[in-house]
Amino acid sequence: MHRIGPPAAAIGTSVTAKHIHTYIICQYMQPAWLGRSRPRSPIRAAALVDRQVAAQAAHRRAVRRPVGARRLTGGRRFPVDARVRSCHDRAIMEGPRMSITADTAPVPMLTGPRHEEVLAALHQLLTPRTYLEIGIEQGQTLRAARCPSIAIDPVFSIDQSIIGEKPECLLYRMPSDRFFDKHDPVTLLGEQLDLAFLDGLHLYEFLLRDFINVEACCRRNSVIVLHDCVPTDLYLARRDRQDESLRAQTRIPGGWCGDVWKTVLILRAYRPDLRIETFDSAYTGVVLVTNLDPESQVLTERYVEAVESFAELSLQDYGLHRYIDELAMRDARSLFDPVQLARYVWM
Ligand SMILES: C[S@@+](CC[C@H](N)C(=O)[O-])C[C@H]1O[C@@H](n2cnc3c(N)ncnc32)[C@H](O)[C@@H]1O
Repeated sequence: MHRIGPPAAAIGTSVTAKHIHTYIICQYMQPAWLGRSRPRSPIRAAALVDRQVAAQAAHRRAVRRPVGARRLTGGRRFPVDARVRSCHDRAIMEGPRMSITADTAPVPMLTGPRHEEVLAALHQLLTPRTYLEIGIEQGQTLRAARCPSIAIDPVFSIDQSIIGEKPECLLYRMPSDRFFDKHDPVTLLGEQLDLAFLDGLHLYEFLLRDFINVEACCRRNSVIVLHDCVPTDLYLARRDRQDESLRAQTRIPGGWCGDVWKTVLILRAYRPDLRIETFDSAYTGVVLVTNLDPESQVLTERYVEAVESFAELSLQDYGLHRYIDELAMRDARSLFDPVQLARYVWM
């Protein structure tokens, strides 16, 4: 089975705020002037806008020349008609309004049931046949599993009985990348994963790799649960865990979601086929990803591009409130009701 690992080499071109800015406009706002094309990276997005601007400038130069002198260097014509021009002008006008956000104040705390309770409910109601957890720490969530399980964490410190009703539980004291390099969960458990909880290193490229590696071991109707993707302030969303510069604005000092919120954006952008539902579990949300496609190669093939595209994006620039609004969060208590749960998951 093909596994994805950390990128072998960094990309040569550096991505600036301008690239990200134009990429977000092109990718998410889908301005009319872009037509059907969608740039696949910030660099390409910026190049596209640059080309439009250059075409306009050339057109203006050309129309100022006497008739017969409109051919530009290289003999190429730049026929920018009024329709294209007005679309482009609109995009330039829309740009700053759409992408510069001042909504950086904390959003209300999430008050739904805690993620340990959500996981326990999923185990109870879905009765998965197999379970994999990345990032187990003291085993709080692993404890709830009742089926054959795999647990991975480089420095777990289990201080309680985690075996419960599980017939087998395989513990791997190693980073998840190393685990997937060496082991195949399907071989270890004898069948695909039904339920997985990804709660390892809170950096978006790590979570993305964990997702890619786990999805490949799932069925279409398996469930992948992501934790900590809903930071309610910018302190929680800092990438560097040691950075305490925004501590004054948080209600959870010491809390850390890292930048795994970007993984949700990447999944949305690159895998519209996935069903991604977010729930208001205290304190940093849970995301259920379903309608999986274990055969999909999209994220594997576009991994470097995806990571590079989102590298410079901060939650401040994207807009904390905008991100939260876009999640359209659901009531986590609905996950405790089998009838409502059936809307999201079938097993
Ligand atoms: C937030 S804790 C997990 C908590 C646990 N799931 C729970 O809810 O009780 C995150 C864990 O991820 C582990 N971790 C860090 N880097 C990791 C990696 N590369 N692969 C797997 N786990 C990792 C840490 O050691 C830590 O124990």
